[in-house]
Amino acid sequence: MKFFIDTANLAQIKEAHDLGILDGVTTNPSLMAKEGIRGEEAINQHYLTICELVDGGDVSVEVISTDLAGIIEEGKKLAAIHPNIVVKVPMIKDGVKALKWFSDNGIRTNCTLVFSAGQAILAAKAGANYVSPFIGRIDDSNWDGVQLIEQISHIYNLQGFKTEILAASIRSALHIVKCAEAGADVCTCPLESILGLLKHPLTDIGLAKFLDDAKKMKEVMVGAK
Ligand code: E4P
Repeated sequence: MKFFIDTANLAQIKEAHDLGILDGVTTNPSLMAKEGIRGEEAINQHYLTICELVDGGDVSVEVISTDLAGIIEEGKKLAAIHPNIVVKVPMIKDGVKALKWFSDNGIRTNCTLVFSAGQAILAAKAGANYVSPFIGRIDDSNWDGVQLIEQISHIYNLQGFKTEILAASIRSALHIVKCAEAGADVCTCPLESILGLLKHPLTDIGLAKFLDDAKKMKEVMVGAK
């Protein structure tokens, strides 16, 4: 399973990249606005900086048009910023048409705002490279987000769809583990959830004991000299 980080914050992207486990980045207009980035030039520069930071990893950037012509025009401009850009397209009627157009014209896509298996089937039929079910938002609305990942994974395997399942809207380290079990190809997560995978109290207790005993060992070695 690939690990993407779900942020437009450069320091967090760098921290995840420095861990050596980062395969890519997903952004959205809310994450970009949170970083205070304003104006087309600054936005495009920020996307380029992210692509350079993750050298080689896919970077999803979202269109804000909702009509076919607008989505295509915007997507072409975004894809021209860097070869690793993946154009994020919302699951709406013109979005589906745009996914097909991008697929026919060699521009890679991520179909976003997916909340059902039916939407995931449409995205795959239209040739999306990634489909993004928002599992945290599904959980928030009292449904089971991970179950949707399982269902899409089952359908894609059965039908031979090549679209990669990108579990999005991750809220915790446990979500990551559950998505891995459910067959997600990618998890896009906040830095906190990625770092949450590191944590286990027995690791901390065990390490403290080993370091303590290592000190004793050193004392014996020094005493022996
Ligand atoms: C996916 O690509 C989205 O950017 C993201 O995962 C949405 O997450 P949220 O529900 O925490 O906003």
